[in-house]
Amino acid sequence: MTGRKVAIVGAGAVGASAAYALALSGICHEILLYDIFPEVAIGKAIDIAQATNYAPRGTVVRAAIKPEDLKNCDVVVITAGVPRKAEMTRADLLNINAGIVKEVSENIKTYSPDAIILCVSNPLDVMTYVVHQVTGWDRSRIIGMGGALDSSRMSYQIYQKTGFAAAQTRSIVIGEHGEHMIPYPEVTGVGGMPLTQVLSKEDIEEVIEKTRNGGAEIVKYLKTSAFYAPGRSISMMVEAILGDEGKVIPSCAMLDGEYGYKDVTVGVPCVVGAKGVEKIIELEFDDEMKAKFAKSVESINESIAILRDGGFFDK
Ligand code: 2OP
Repeated sequence: MTGRKVAIVGAGAVGASAAYALALSGICHEILLYDIFPEVAIGKAIDIAQATNYAPRGTVVRAAIKPEDLKNCDVVVITAGVPRKAEMTRADLLNINAGIVKEVSENIKTYSPDAIILCVSNPLDVMTYVVHQVTGWDRSRIIGMGGALDSSRMSYQIYQKTGFAAAQTRSIVIGEHGEHMIPYPEVTGVGGMPLTQVLSKEDIEEVIEKTRNGGAEIVKYLKTSAFYAPGRSISMMVEAILGDEGKVIPSCAMLDGEYGYKDVTVGVPCVVGAKGVEKIIELEFDDEMKAKFAKSVESINESIAILRDGGFFDK
């Protein structure tokens, strides 16, 4: 069986929820859970493996103990890093998580040289940039998971307003996975209808505000960040890759001229399939969208510059 071995690096709440969602999807032949605390990976792998007894299809779920155990994976998901706490901004996480993501990326490069990497660690866009820099791989093979989660939050907010089309809303949120995220009502569809014709301007403004606040709202209640919706979003993206679905998913990708930018990783609508990012869809922005997108890029570039100026990419 080829093409269906997935490793998840970081067996915290997000990594484990992703493994659980993936195991229930039945799309993988094998899921490996890896963590710096091997007991955590082992315990959660056993629990999830036992859950597969009632899954529609069998999946082997095991813990990876050493980096060498991450051999020949088709997809590797990076969730490792310290989680955002209520008092932290995503940018606070920058330096510590960049070091972790670098080490993980080096291991993936060594042991799974043909993998597609799905980066989930925060600050998401910057960590995705770090994976690109460390691996030097073709840009299609590295994708960041941010927009998929933010879009699920936008769909939730739309449902709160309309009371219908819960699983039929296709929201698009692009830009930074953070303060400058851009919920994009003009290209969001509710049961196939344009959102702009379903909700009033005021309601849409409220949806946008609450979507932006989606992660923080959960932190407020749980004192730690979300994991079920991130886990399911990861699983959906891995399914799109392994199933070669050619699915349009707002994802963090490396730009090379698209939207007028180069050498920056930011959320854009991507066609996701077996090769990873198979295509970046360039939407026509009006001036307001151009300005919002520029702000997102600027914010991500500022964080990249902090790492660069500190010599992070020279080591
Ligand atoms: C979230 O948005 C922490 O990125 C994570 O919930």
